[in-house]
Amino acid sequence: MLKSKDLLGLQYLSAEEITQILSGAVATKKFLLGDKKAADDLKGRTLVTLFYENSTRTRTSFELAGKYLGANEVNISVATSSVQKGETLMDTGKTLNALKVDFIAIRHPMAGAPQLLAQNVTASVINGGDGMHEHPTQALLDMFTLKEHYGRIEGLKVAILGDIKHSRVALSNLFGLTKLGAQVYMYAPGTMIPKDIQKLGAHIATSREEAVEGADAVMGLRIQLERMNGGLFPSLGEYSKYYGINGDLLKYAKKGAVILHPGPVNRGVELTPQVTDGESSLITEQVTNGLAVRMSILKLLSAYREENL
Ligand code: CP
Repeated sequence: MLKSKDLLGLQYLSAEEITQILSGAVATKKFLLGDKKAADDLKGRTLVTLFYENSTRTRTSFELAGKYLGANEVNISVATSSVQKGETLMDTGKTLNALKVDFIAIRHPMAGAPQLLAQNVTASVINGGDGMHEHPTQALLDMFTLKEHYGRIEGLKVAILGDIKHSRVALSNLFGLTKLGAQVYMYAPGTMIPKDIQKLGAHIATSREEAVEGADAVMGLRIQLERMNGGLFPSLGEYSKYYGINGDLLKYAKKGAVILHPGPVNRGVELTPQVTDGESSLITEQVTNGLAVRMSILKLLSAYREENL
């Protein structure tokens, strides 16, 4: 049983709660791979997706997760909603409360927005990414993908390369992977490494090769092209040459090491196309696993609501 009505970040979950979500996803993945995708676990419940930033994977998989489990599912298109008339997040929350929704999956550019919303609604709030803070369901699907491949998380070495400073995926993975006993190595240009991240358990490598040496998994992060003018690195070509993931770099990883990336990939920048599409890449499997993990989360939060609310 989860201990909160909301899922706001891996910072706030215990190792037991993370393990429970991953175990639940084993069953939901089996269901997904089956012939018919129709269950009634969430019959009579309503899920709203409220995304203030663009998304393909996260929003679609929440919507499908709700539908496959029998929930009523509504997407609020922020671009055409009353947000454009100046409605605040709290007032949108109050409106959804009045409409008696059970789950709100939210993505917001401000770190902490899901927490604020959760304190002001009776619905269960699920963080689909908040600013540079957390993206817990992405990290859970990454961990599920590793657990499915290796049978464990404990003892794995995971190398994370890319724009760590602006990445909510990196932070959530750091919390989750270390709670389950993995070692997390990070490498990026100095402008993309947050100060003091070692205090959260990250090993900061001094070269790409050191980060990847003996790694079981190598995770690339999206370079935020919108920040190219911010002087974080000289050019995309140089980023790719000095910080990207390519076949030569992967020779340092453990034999059979797997490649992860949360998507969307900037083709040829974070990873070479051969790595993105190569046989070690689990990037497409991650997308399927995202659906399984989000179904597991919805089922567990629904059980929490039945017991406690
Ligand atoms: N990984 C991820 O969050 O992708 P989307 O932005 O497409 O949801």
